Amino acid sequence: MTEAHATLPVRIIELLKHLGLERAHFAACMPRDWEGLAATHAELIASLTLICPMGINVHVLQSRSLPLLCVSGDRGRPGKETERELAKLPGARALVLRDYFSPPWADPILHRRDEIGTAIIEFISQLGAEASPAIAEPNGEIAEITYRIRGAGAPLILLPLALSPSQWEPLIEQLSRHCCTITLGGAHVGMVAHLETRAQSSYMRVIDQLINELNLTPGQSVLEVGCGPGAIVRRLAMRTQGRNKIVGVDVNQYLLREAAALARRDKLDRFIEFQTGDAEQLPFRNDQFDATISCTVMEEGDADRMLAEFVRVTKPGGKIGAVVRSTDLPRWVNLPLSAALKQKVDAAGLFGGNVNDGGCADASLYRRFNRAGLADVTMTPQWAPHKNGERLQYLHDRILALLNGDELFQWQDAVRKAQTDETFFIAEPFHCAVGTKRKG
Ligand SMILES: C[S@@+](CC[C@H](N)C(=O)[O-])C[C@H]1O[C@@H](n2cnc3c(N)ncnc32)[C@H](O)[C@@H]1O
Repeated sequence: MTEAHATLPVRIIELLKHLGLERAHFAACMPRDWEGLAATHAELIASLTLICPMGINVHVLQSRSLPLLCVSGDRGRPGKETERELAKLPGARALVLRDYFSPPWADPILHRRDEIGTAIIEFISQLGAEASPAIAEPNGEIAEITYRIRGAGAPLILLPLALSPSQWEPLIEQLSRHCCTITLGGAHVGMVAHLETRAQSSYMRVIDQLINELNLTPGQSVLEVGCGPGAIVRRLAMRTQGRNKIVGVDVNQYLLREAAALARRDKLDRFIEFQTGDAEQLPFRNDQFDATISCTVMEEGDADRMLAEFVRVTKPGGKIGAVVRSTDLPRWVNLPLSAALKQKVDAAGLFGGNVNDGGCADASLYRRFNRAGLADVTMTPQWAPHKNGERLQYLHDRILALLNGDELFQWQDAVRKAQTDETFFIAEPFHCAVGTKRKG
């Protein structure tokens, strides 16, 4: 377990103590938010509700027998993955959202509020009563976790819901009529933590290459579309120290709030403007920016419409750059495995790879750049090799979940040996393109 995972349970325990709680119900999406606490202090968890989970740590749940409710869509890869993992947890309750695709950027609480609200309330009310928090202050921060308390009754800790734009908001009023909702935020939980740790990994080498190709000169302006918690705009601001105007735009208000807080934390807020906006309909005039970039965003919407907008808001002669995840390039797992197992674990699209209809997570990126009329397009597939840290752990866990008995044995043996000689890494593929908007 990585250091980041190890510290989150400590923070949550501090939060529970601060609120005067012996235990609480928890609801989450991302395994990183609950698996550490469940593994080490399961007695603090009265129940666990998973909403459109980005993976389920079955091993921890099997050994802890926590009351579990799992809500997921039935469409596409996320639906299949959840169904496969839930089959290993026969005691779990399931709410399957019919005809619903639930990638990390889905907005399940907005789209299926009543169905999900009713299931959570029924689930929690059938379990034993838990004491409410002994605290009057409804908003606060402890151990660098922010909290917002609403309602009274059994405490229900709501962890962030991946990239969902609405997060828990549409359900807070309904839930807080039955229990005491405690909504958590900050850089150590949810997708903010996930993206921040990715930004501390060699993913940033891929981004640095993209930034270098922009050839920014002092006074030029840069727009990052889909900036999320803002790791890339902060990196740009750190490098340029006010010599360039930097704007981050995102459709997700929750992530923008966290991005602003992180920029303040790093004393970079005076160099970055954050703004709400949709990549498919950017709130900027034509020919406004010297460069426009977008990193792992074109998977989540209509990629051609986004690209047309990037081109529209960029000045003639300016650069447009994009990075997308890749479902068509193999990963590279640096382990001496049998040919069959190596082929399986390196296979393109083995896991992850959620893409919207019209989204882009493959080499079509290059064709799209050419079709958009861009000149001098550089086309650079790249691999980010993860040798340690949470990103390695995340990819490792996703692979482990797909191995059977013999494969698992071979894998674990190879990992042990490679860790001893310090050669274990998993390289994650991306497609990157940079082009120039033609003049005239
Ligand atoms: C995987 S995150 C990447 C964040 C950041 N670019 C990075 O690489 O760390 C994808 C981001 O794109 C944003 N996004 C998705 N669709 C969008 C759209 N139509 N308009 C603006 N932002 C969007 C999401 O809200 C999220 O913050």
